[in-house]
Amino acid sequence: MEVKSLYIHYPHCEHLCNYCDFYKSKFKSDSNENFFNYLINSLPTQKEILEKNNFSISDLETIYIGGGTPSLWGKEIIKFLEKFKKYFEINHFSLKEFTIEVDPSRYQEKEILELLKYGVNRLSIGVQSFDKSIFPLLDRSHDFSEIEKTLKFVSSHHENFSVDFMIGLPEVDSERNVKNELERILKFNPKHISLYILSVGESYPLKDYLPDDEKIREEYLTVHEFLSRNNFNHYEVSNYALKGFESNHNWQYWKQNSYLALGPSGSGLLVGDAGYRYKWLPSGEVNVETLSSNQLNLEKLYTMARTNIGIEIDQFSDSAIEIFKDYEREGLGEFQGKRFAFNQYGFVNLDTLIERIL
Ligand SMILES: C[S@@+](CC[C@H](N)C(=O)[O-])C[C@H]1O[C@@H](n2cnc3c(N)ncnc32)[C@H](O)[C@@H]1O
Ligand code: SF4
Repeated sequence: MEVKSLYIHYPHCEHLCNYCDFYKSKFKSDSNENFFNYLINSLPTQKEILEKNNFSISDLETIYIGGGTPSLWGKEIIKFLEKFKKYFEINHFSLKEFTIEVDPSRYQEKEILELLKYGVNRLSIGVQSFDKSIFPLLDRSHDFSEIEKTLKFVSSHHENFSVDFMIGLPEVDSERNVKNELERILKFNPKHISLYILSVGESYPLKDYLPDDEKIREEYLTVHEFLSRNNFNHYEVSNYALKGFESNHNWQYWKQNSYLALGPSGSGLLVGDAGYRYKWLPSGEVNVETLSSNQLNLEKLYTMARTNIGIEIDQFSDSAIEIFKDYEREGLGEFQGKRFAFNQYGFVNLDTLIERIL
């Protein structure tokens, strides 16, 4: 069996934003060298995992480099991927999609241009908010003007880029107008928007200023209404795209196709008769979990329910199908042939709706 997608987690940032829960540590002068060695040392284990499960790689269709702040890795990415190719005896990548996440505080124009020449064909920019008064609450390492500068640079050099946008942000002095912020962002012509709802732990310093669920629901539906009106297809709970610009890499996760992962906290999945999930620890060791076909089916149900393709209804009992009919009557989604797909009103309360069916 062939695996066609690779995720690499780059684990460093120049500044650690106080709301962020991704695996990361502060960037130091030897971070890139240590990361390179970490990755090289993980290749024999990665090969063993593939061989043990009868998988191989002869080519890759999608690569996603996330973090952390992978733009700090810069063109060292190329050095590692060349080693990766050699190690797995891959002649040539015929990549459909190659994404790298860019933090506006750390985009190096020259290096990004080199990466685009190498084959990176999609950039994902961490914008978060386009409101000067909300922005300082976000504890970012850069100021507001750098977002504009980054968006300007990216949109003039590359057509296919995505913007991360957050809702559920703390509100201290002024009320947020997400529609207005998105209007200004769309002027730079992003092709894709990833929408995040801020989720933080107990120690978050602005915990008392977070909006309630009703306000978040309102923001979520406002974003849906505005982006839909501007031809963005709400193709997954947290993702919008113009036609032809959906994230091919993320579809591999949601459809439960096999994918590789490298880098600390990166987690890969190989799907055969059963599933094999592995996760890289900071020590370089790997945690493994075997998933039965029942577990795989349940996970796929959760991920596909989040998409506009929806879930196959053949697998459900008559009483569960009655519940889907209720959902359709209540305007939370609709039957599409042998599938049921939730809409924005279903997405906003999805976990509860699925729990009821299960
Ligand atoms: C891997 S992160 C960041 C990429 C890049 N380092 C940056 O900050 O611009 C991807 C996205 O996750 C979102 N995110 C980070 N922390 C979050 C949290 N606590 N709750 C919800 N979304 C979060 C942000 O929108 C961020 O851009
Ligand atoms: S720069 Fe991005 S990944 Fe790093 S701490 Fe901030 S939000 Fe998290």
